[in-house]
Amino acid sequence: MVAPAETEASSLVVREVRKSFPAPDNPLSRRQVLDGISFSLGAGELISLIGPSGCGKSTLLRLVAGLDSADSGDLLIGIEPITAPNAERGLVFQDPNLFPWLTVRRNIQAGLVARGVLHEKKNEVDEFMRLVGLEIFANVYPHHLSGGMAQRAALARALINHPKILLLDEPLGALDAFTRMRMQDEVLRLWQARRTTMLLVTHDIDEAIYMSDRIMIMTPRPGRIERTIPVELARPRQRDSGDFLRLRSDILKFLHFAGKS
Ligand SMILES: Nc1ncnc2c1ncn2[C@@H]1O[C@H](COP(=O)(O)OP(=O)(O)OP(=O)(O)O)[C@@H](O)[C@H]1O
Ligand SMILES: [Mg+2]
Repeated sequence: MVAPAETEASSLVVREVRKSFPAPDNPLSRRQVLDGISFSLGAGELISLIGPSGCGKSTLLRLVAGLDSADSGDLLIGIEPITAPNAERGLVFQDPNLFPWLTVRRNIQAGLVARGVLHEKKNEVDEFMRLVGLEIFANVYPHHLSGGMAQRAALARALINHPKILLLDEPLGALDAFTRMRMQDEVLRLWQARRTTMLLVTHDIDEAIYMSDRIMIMTPRPGRIERTIPVELARPRQRDSGDFLRLRSDILKFLHFAGKS
């Protein structure tokens, strides 16, 4: 059996995080990308991060994943500082990045193999394939999967490590509008089943409203959290409800994208 969901989620604290990179035009100078980012996620919370291209969203996710380190500031999972990548922080990208030479089953169990725990956790592989509805595709290779199915396999591959926090970087960005809406429901179903803390980067305001407990809006680079908006709509949310559309219009106005009336 999969372990009880309550034990899985973890809080995340990001405090005054700064990050710069060498400037592309002059490698001797540095360009500030994140400029004092502070926020926290409660255990089991689903928060979206939206902001203009290049403002540092993926950079922030990479810092939380432990793939890169901040120039200054603190990043904590629970009370533990983030110092290196760890299976407890799952990362899913826009491209599912499945291994093309492995079947769906072998892709999903890859993390267990890498950690040398496949033998003891073998029954969980079937459980997670069922969870994402891919059990009959277990022995199929990725090139036979649709985009949505491949992304579900990528989600299962991350979830099987029982991440305390799942970092989602535009995970549905490459899907067509219909598949994308279906996959939003899939991710919400997984979130409700597992209660994993989730940090979702998206460019899609409707997706952010449909899915998240709160929406954080970043400024253009150097990125800062400009505003955090709670989404106090009952779930499951109705994309065409008055409250949904009002919030959408508020966010568009804030981002200066509202049409002239
Ligand atoms: N390893 C790196 N070396 C140098 N510059 C980098 C590096 N990683 C990111 N950058 C720069 O940092 C800035 C932020 O990049 P990042 O990928 O975090 O943006 P983003 O908000 O995820 O954008 P998008 O919405 O287009 O995905 C960009 O200007 C990018 O060129
Ligand atoms: Mg990005």
